[in-house]
Amino acid sequence: MTPVLRPARPEETDAIIDFLHTHMKSSWKRERWARVFDQRWVRPERGPPDLGHVVEEGGKILGYCGLTNADRRINGRWERSGSVGSLYLHKSLRGQGLGRALMVNACASPGLTITVIGTGEGSRPLMGPAGCKLLDRDRFIWRRQGGALPKGVRIFTDASAFGPLLTDDQRQMLADHDGLGIVPVVLDSPSGLCLAVFWVQVKGDDVSYWDAVHVSNGPVFAAYGQALADALLPADAKAVLTADRRYLPPDTDGEVEVFGDNYWYKSDTLDRSQVDLMYTEILLLKLKLS
Ligand SMILES: CC(C)(COP(=O)(O)OP(=O)(O)OC[C@H]1O[C@@H](n2cnc3c(N)ncnc32)[C@H](O)[C@@H]1OP(=O)(O)O)[C@@H](O)C(=O)NCCC(=O)NCCS
Repeated sequence: MTPVLRPARPEETDAIIDFLHTHMKSSWKRERWARVFDQRWVRPERGPPDLGHVVEEGGKILGYCGLTNADRRINGRWERSGSVGSLYLHKSLRGQGLGRALMVNACASPGLTITVIGTGEGSRPLMGPAGCKLLDRDRFIWRRQGGALPKGVRIFTDASAFGPLLTDDQRQMLADHDGLGIVPVVLDSPSGLCLAVFWVQVKGDDVSYWDAVHVSNGPVFAAYGQALADALLPADAKAVLTADRRYLPPDTDGEVEVFGDNYWYKSDTLDRSQVDLMYTEILLLKLKLS
């Protein structure tokens, strides 16, 4: 039998979940795998979600590369993003180019900004053929030094205080993430305003990471990263504040940490610095941690 590669259909979601649960990671229950199909931000008027592609052989699903989609507004324009949340090919079919073909097809939708975050070494050779470019391989780190807030700088953590300073798109973005555990912060400075959204998690060695998953103004963030760390990080616990390199100006200097896995992206409409980890990547981060 010849394996067939084709778009995934909405009615075969259960079969795909069974495949992922049985072959990719059985320690994840089916309910958890089902969250890969969470398309809560897809607007039907902008078209059905792209569910990725399957490899089928003899009526059985034996491979899948899945996408979680979201419609969101960036700079007054609708954008659709898709995060690769699962890529798996049955062992019996590996080594004949099908994994590469799955990724190439998953990334082929025009107008969809694709991100591939934390998928491991195995997916690296598939990125170039799929048209994906390096999004980032490292992040800048700030530690608390206890300094006073620089003159003319204000930092807001309360939405009722910073809400009026934001654009409609920014307010909508924060409302879309209600209940998902993000930490929005606004820094107002003589050189401009920056909305930074943090995702806080404890990583190895009990260090609390305040990772910026969205930065609206890279130059302002880079200039006042230390002020943010001093204002936000707890004094009585190990903690760092981080921002991926792409958000910040090219001449940014400072302590850097290299990721375990490279981040990849493909976009016809967005510049690399505009590709953040909001929406679908937040869902997948929550999925991996839960
Ligand atoms: C990753 C995976 C989908 C690749 O499928 P595949 O059909 O065997 O890959 P292909 O035959 O299309 O190979 C494409 C290229 O990737 C390379 N490659 C494949 N798997 C690799 C791995 N695990 N590590 C390093 N390179 C790998 C191949 O050598 C080939 O390189 P080439 O073009 O230079 O010859 C498959 O191995 C798999 O499902 N692995 C387990 C799950 C996994 O690792 N998923 C990715 C992260 S979530």
